[in-house]
This record gives sequence, C-alpha cells and structure tokens, in this order.
Amino acid sequence: MRIAVLTSGGDAPGMNAAVRAVARTAFFKGWEVMSVWAGYRGLLEGKIYPIDRRHLGGIIHRGGTILGTERSPEFMTPEGQRKAAGKLAEAGIEGLIVIGGNGSLTGAMKLADLGIEVVGIPATIDNDMAGTDMALGVDTALNTALEAIDRLKDTASSHQRAHIVEVMGRDCGYLALMSAIAGGAEAAVVPEFEPRKEALLSFIKKAYEQGKSHFIIVVAEGAPLSAEELHQYVNSAEGTYDARLTVVGHIQRGGIPTAYDRILASRLGTAAVEALADGESGVMVGIRGERISRTLLEEVVGKERPLDPDVYRMAEILAGLPE
Ligand code: ADP
Ligand code: F6P
Repeated sequence: MRIAVLTSGGDAPGMNAAVRAVARTAFFKGWEVMSVWAGYRGLLEGKIYPIDRRHLGGIIHRGGTILGTERSPEFMTPEGQRKAAGKLAEAGIEGLIVIGGNGSLTGAMKLADLGIEVVGIPATIDNDMAGTDMALGVDTALNTALEAIDRLKDTASSHQRAHIVEVMGRDCGYLALMSAIAGGAEAAVVPEFEPRKEALLSFIKKAYEQGKSHFIIVVAEGAPLSAEELHQYVNSAEGTYDARLTVVGHIQRGGIPTAYDRILASRLGTAAVEALADGESGVMVGIRGERISRTLLEEVVGKERPLDPDVYRMAEILAGLPE
C-alpha cells in the first residue's frame, strides 16, 4: 500500500509528531509513505516525494511543519479538487492523511467525495473543531498564552496596571477562556458570549479602589469587543488603572510542542493509519475522553463547537466578578 500525508492550513505544534507517527506506523505495516509538500497547493503542483526513515529523526519536538503548509484558493474550486485527485492517482497514492483544521478537513471531505481514501487528523490551535475534545497544537498554544499572562501579571502588579491580552482564536474563544482561567485573569472576552461592557468597567474601578495590584483581561481576537477597543475604553475612564495592550499573536503558533500534544499526535497519527488499514475513508480521528474516535468528516466540518456556558460562568465567579 502506498499512502501520502500532508499538512494544511495554519500550522500547529505537534504536526511533525503526527507526520512521524503516520510514517512509522505505515512503515511498520510494510507500506510506502509519500509526503506532499506545502498542503493542497503542493498537491496541485505534484510535489509528492517519498518519505525516508531518516527524515523522521529529531522532529518529534519541533514546532511548525517540516512538510510546509499553505492556503490554496485553487483547491477550493471543484476543478482544483479534481486536478488534485488526478495528481494522487498519477502518483499511485491509495490513501491520503490530511493534518489540519476545519478548512483543510473540508478539503479532505471533498477528496473523499471524489473517491479518494482519506483520513483527517485535527490540527489547529483554535480548538474549534467538532468530533474531538482537543486538536493538535491547542495545549501548546494554551501554555504559551498562559506564560504571556503570567509574565504580564508580574509587571502589572509592579505598576498597579490593567493589562489587556489578545490571544488567538479566529472565531473561537477556547484559548482566551482557558488561558484566563489558568492564569487567574480577572476577565475573558470571547466571541461566544456578549461582553457586559459597563459591568466590566465597574468591576475594574472597584478593584482599583480596593487597591488590587493588577487587572488582567484576556480577549480572543475574534471577540465582538476587540482588545484595542477595550484598551481605549479602560484608558478613557477616570479613576481607574492605566492600561496596556499586548497581542500575543503568532508566538502562540510556534514552539516546542508540549508532552500532551506529542502524545496526542502520536496516537492520532497511528489511529489515522489504522483507519486506512480498516478500509475507512472520509473520517477524522479524534480523542474523546481517553479514547480515540472516528467521526465522519461530514459530521465534523463546518459544525459549531460551542464553549460551555458553565465554564464561562465559573471563570467569572473565580475572577470575583460581582453578580
Ligand atoms: P484550516 O485548515 O487551518 O482551517 P484554512 O481554512 O485556511 O485552514 O484551509 C486550508 C486550506 O484548505 C485552504 O487553503 C483550501 O485549500 C482548503 N479548504 C478550505 N476550505 C475549503 C472548502 N470549503 N472546500 C475545499 N477546500 C477547502
Ligand atoms: O486558525 C489558526 C489561526 O492561528 C487563528 O487563530 C488565526 O486567526 C489565524 O490562524 C491566523 O492566520 P494567519 O496565519 O494566516 O495569520
């Protein structure tokens, strides 16, 4: 059996560990493994090369993706998808593993519809995908955001300031909410819940009057009240903290994957090969609780993954927000 693996969309720490797991599991089965460079664009250009065992050494701890990743508009079209399927057939590929986020796995589903044997592995720092508790890269990005919050709290406390911290998450507040909880932040502003601007300002003022040394607000980049707006709002108010704004940005996308991400990548990479071996196609492997799952791509892509309102409420209570 000859299979191929590609990474697509925004990179996520743990992608390399997943590529390694896919290839080593396939080698163990006596299969041949090809890599597609630079996601779907590389596929359209026929950039399909054999993976050698030596390529897999020393990559488990590296962030980014050694295969490269891209966003390909051409692949979004039905002609592009047919051309991509043709390239796979020309290269004699009998199974494809796609590692990426919602968009990438939508592309994988389109290929499955064209008769290609495809299995997806969820990888995106946003954790916005249905069908898995965690996607690859989330844990690492969360810890990076947390480190930024911890550091900002030191300087905030020294100067008695408010710090607004913008973290990633295109349409999803998971990183913001969870890093706010773990970092003991005073507030989280996320796309999923309407921000209570006035209540937040009176909370900030009260904390200031009571002499609280710092006030940290974590804002998801996709929140309706942007970090920049909030920064101006706090600074324009009388009798409260002087505020500073920090955008953590793409720092969250890079870096050494955590143990959690490496282990998850190893499990999902292996599970994806096992799914192909079982003749499954058009599915995503994921983790639910402690168990590896297989979910049809059509039940995954484009589906909402809501934040738990109870967890949001808990974050407010732990932050000491008055009723
Ligand atoms: P992610 O996988 O991180 O969500 P994108 O949304 O940018 O990243 O998608 C990555 C790539 O997947 C796109 O460049 C495109 O080639 C492909 N893709 C995205 N959406 C679709 C779609 N609706 N149909 C087919 N391919 C898609
Ligand atoms: O989907 C992952 C993500 O990092 C989002 O959190 C962010 O909005 C987006 O990708 C940034 O994309 P780019 O790498 O194109 O700047």
